[in-house]
Amino acid sequence: MSSDLVTATDITEDYFPEVIYHLRQNFFADEPLNKALDLCKRGQPHFELERHCMLTLKQGFSRMLLTQDGRIAGVALNGILKKGEREEAERRLLEIADEKFKIIFGLLYKVNEKIDLFSNYNVQELFECRILSVDEGFRGRGFANTLMADSIKTARTAGFKHDLPLVCMECFSFEKGLQSRRYGNLFPKSMREPRPEN
Ligand SMILES: CC(C)(COP(=O)(O)OP(=O)(O)OC[C@H]1O[C@@H](n2cnc3c(N)ncnc32)[C@H](O)[C@@H]1OP(=O)(O)O)[C@@H](O)C(=O)NCCC(=O)NCCS
Repeated sequence: MSSDLVTATDITEDYFPEVIYHLRQNFFADEPLNKALDLCKRGQPHFELERHCMLTLKQGFSRMLLTQDGRIAGVALNGILKKGEREEAERRLLEIADEKFKIIFGLLYKVNEKIDLFSNYNVQELFECRILSVDEGFRGRGFANTLMADSIKTARTAGFKHDLPLVCMECFSFEKGLQSRRYGNLFPKSMREPRPEN
């Protein structure tokens, strides 16, 4: 997918450092929950967030928008979550020292537990758009929409069906509680049909 300004492409391993740099400059500081808790200053690294991003990047479903001169305009870090992995991640969270990170991810895991998509749709795996980030200088031009549409295509190519609605976990705001917004800090998900048992 391409437009006059940007081209959507896979995030290959050679781009991982540049993507992490982009996230430090943008998502880490600007995402609403991170910002509300002042999780990190712009440009700063964050061990746990970067671990989370790298694990997702290594799954190979992430996409980015590149400008004609090769700059990253935005990224969608997509991954597959298997049933039971959230519970495992919640247990791991108990061992983490970073209290702010624990609050944010604790909240996300609780919401996921509550909506329980695995049981509700009787699936073993979910396709998640975990991180959606557009460079500050490129916002308001529809790039997040482009990344979302592109991620849905990626999910389909990976075998996930899409006749179920794409669930966009909406945006948290500490002032207003859980809000209904098109893009949130949480996880848009679509589902793949359960695999036949071997
Ligand atoms: C949120 C973000 C990805 C939006 O990127 P963008 O390229 O400016 O968004 P777009 O121009 O594609 O706009 C997409 C839609 O979201 C809406 N939107 C954009 N920013 C929004 C925000 N902060 N809150 C609510 N809605 C927003 C737009 O009005 C638009 O709605 P429409 O399609 O109905 O017209 C970008 O501001 C960003 O990277 N923020 C920091 C990280 C973050 O919060 N990521 C989201 C959670 S993972």
